[in-house]
Amino acid sequence: MFKEYFQYKGISFPELIYSAQGLREAENGFRVRDDDIFNVTYQKSGTVWMLEILSLIRSNGDPSWCRTVPNWERGPWYETILGLRMAQGNRSPRIISSHLPIQLFAKSFFRSKAKVVYTVRNPKDVLVSLYHFAQIFRPYKEPGRMDQFLERFLEGDGECRGGGGWHCSAPTWRAPGGGLATDPRPYSPPPQDLRGSIQRICRFLGRELEDQALDAVVANASFQAMKQNKMSNFSLSPSFLLDQSKKSFLRKGGAGPGNW
Ligand code: PPS
Repeated sequence: MFKEYFQYKGISFPELIYSAQGLREAENGFRVRDDDIFNVTYQKSGTVWMLEILSLIRSNGDPSWCRTVPNWERGPWYETILGLRMAQGNRSPRIISSHLPIQLFAKSFFRSKAKVVYTVRNPKDVLVSLYHFAQIFRPYKEPGRMDQFLERFLEGDGECRGGGGWHCSAPTWRAPGGGLATDPRPYSPPPQDLRGSIQRICRFLGRELEDQALDAVVANASFQAMKQNKMSNFSLSPSFLLDQSKKSFLRKGGAGPGNW
């Protein structure tokens, strides 16, 4: 099994899905378009949930796209080997996912009018989610015991996962004044008011939806709806990447001790 990592600008990445050349291209060669929407997170913070919400907003609440195209094609992770080509080939307006810290982000983004929705999740829940995920995601090293994994997470060690520690990602997207760099907290799961949060995202994107369309976004982006949708639950993911025989990618989708 592939468990090798390499360093890129001080951050460790698993070789199976990233390459130094791809990361260089993502940073220096990727051409951001003004109408791109970036879905940025530290991993296990709700990336695919936000991807589903953004896909549904783009489709005006119509779930057809989400039910026929895998999420990794709808909103590819452009820093990965496969995602880079997909993102380059996708039609506008593109949804592009990323776990990169801001210092490795596409340089052309900073000269563009593209928007970023950054999702933050309580790092305690991220830790638990990542611990379970590292047991089923083949490119990652086995996480070992939780107490050891916790120590490494707190140290910001990139081993056992990819793209560096939480500490070198989420805070980099914060503006000096304290809010997020692009928009004040557009979303923070678990949302008390999912509908209201989606409305705020729509306003941020300049895409006001009718009530019915909004209801459809809420319904189709629910945990249960996504768990049943094979385009969103990674059941189509090749087994050399993800082994869901013991645990699911869409595991519990909650917060706090009840989620552990
Ligand atoms: S990844 O691999 O970094 O892209 O993972 P990511 O999508 O960021 O995070 C996966 C966690 O998000 C939960 N999730 C959801 N929770 C609630 N509602 C919905 N619709 C939803 N979709 C995804 C998913 O279950 C993972 O959290 P855990 O705690 O492991 O269940």
